[in-house]
Amino acid sequence: MRSKSLALIAVGTGLAVAMTACGANTSTGGNTADTNTNSGSGGAKVGVILPETASSARWEGFDKPLLEKALKAEGLDPDIQNAQGDVQKFSTLADGMINAGVKVLIIATPNSEIGATVARKAEASGIAVIDYDRLNLGGSSKYYVSFDNEAVGALQGEGLVQGLAALAPGKKPAEIIEIEGAPTDNNATLFYNGQQKVLKPKYDSGDLKLVQSQPIDNWDNQKGGTTFEQILTGNGQKVDGVVAANDGLAGAVITVLKKYGLNGKVPVTGQDATPEGLQAILRGDQFMTVFKPINEQAEATAKLAAALAKNDTAAADALASGVTKDTKANRDVKSVLLPAQLITKDKVKTVVDAGFVKATEICGGDLAAVCTELGIK
Ligand code: BGC
Repeated sequence: MRSKSLALIAVGTGLAVAMTACGANTSTGGNTADTNTNSGSGGAKVGVILPETASSARWEGFDKPLLEKALKAEGLDPDIQNAQGDVQKFSTLADGMINAGVKVLIIATPNSEIGATVARKAEASGIAVIDYDRLNLGGSSKYYVSFDNEAVGALQGEGLVQGLAALAPGKKPAEIIEIEGAPTDNNATLFYNGQQKVLKPKYDSGDLKLVQSQPIDNWDNQKGGTTFEQILTGNGQKVDGVVAANDGLAGAVITVLKKYGLNGKVPVTGQDATPEGLQAILRGDQFMTVFKPINEQAEATAKLAAALAKNDTAAADALASGVTKDTKANRDVKSVLLPAQLITKDKVKTVVDAGFVKATEICGGDLAAVCTELGIK
């Protein structure tokens, strides 16, 4: 376990350097898409359907503008919509795009069933389908672009362990509540599996004690908060650490911790490096987040889409050189899987230096002093 943690830290540190370097020549801000002058009009039509808005600030705040920018930069003509967690709406949006003659369909779905149905329909019309971020289990999409999601989960487990060492040193067993993502999202399973790689040996040895692990339907942040409060009060208001599967759920957990005077005393994990999540880290209410450079995900997706729009399968296969197992369809899906990075308070600067968020988005008011102290500008 010890050598594994060191390896993860080493990977994270190396990545920080690499990302700082590439942040200098890529403009990645979440809302810079409309400054792109390459309109892409006249290029092949590409449809993108994102899954939700409320489950994470990433979809509308990052994925949408960054995909628009990246697809246009490849000379493509994107139509980007959001299904707002509604599978019927997802299906209607997909039908509209298929009828409009898109060459490529890029889908991040609320659940695998709708993703599999849409992919089959699109492919029957000769449209190439890319699963974006979430793999549709039992589906038929030929390509998948995401992060190494099990590694993301391992970073969360690692962050929790670091947080316990900092905030509850020597506490044995430390009592843990896990607030997990949607059971219908394959990523939530992968995050959980990654977390357990780090945490299970500690549960088994008695260093940690699991109070309860609870998946939250639709990644519903509000439901995450009420569920966490029930578990906390059911455990006599005792908790030493919280696994929250993303920044949205972490925010809901922190609201409850505040109510019981526990915020800042209990490490809470997160994911997505959202402005709100980073601010909670700077305040000391959240211990860590996972930085997934969505600009790289959008750029990889756009390159793949450009190859597929030209029917250049050889180029597409060269880009998607990894594989992901679809455990339901029992097939390997050609993949691009990007690395992510563990962000604690001392690393928030990395996210700003990479151009992912601007200092002005996180450093206002009560956080001005800590930003200055950490050299965030
Ligand atoms: C994504 C996360 C996101 C979550 C909720 C997952 O599939 O990988 O980045 O926080 O969905 O939207």
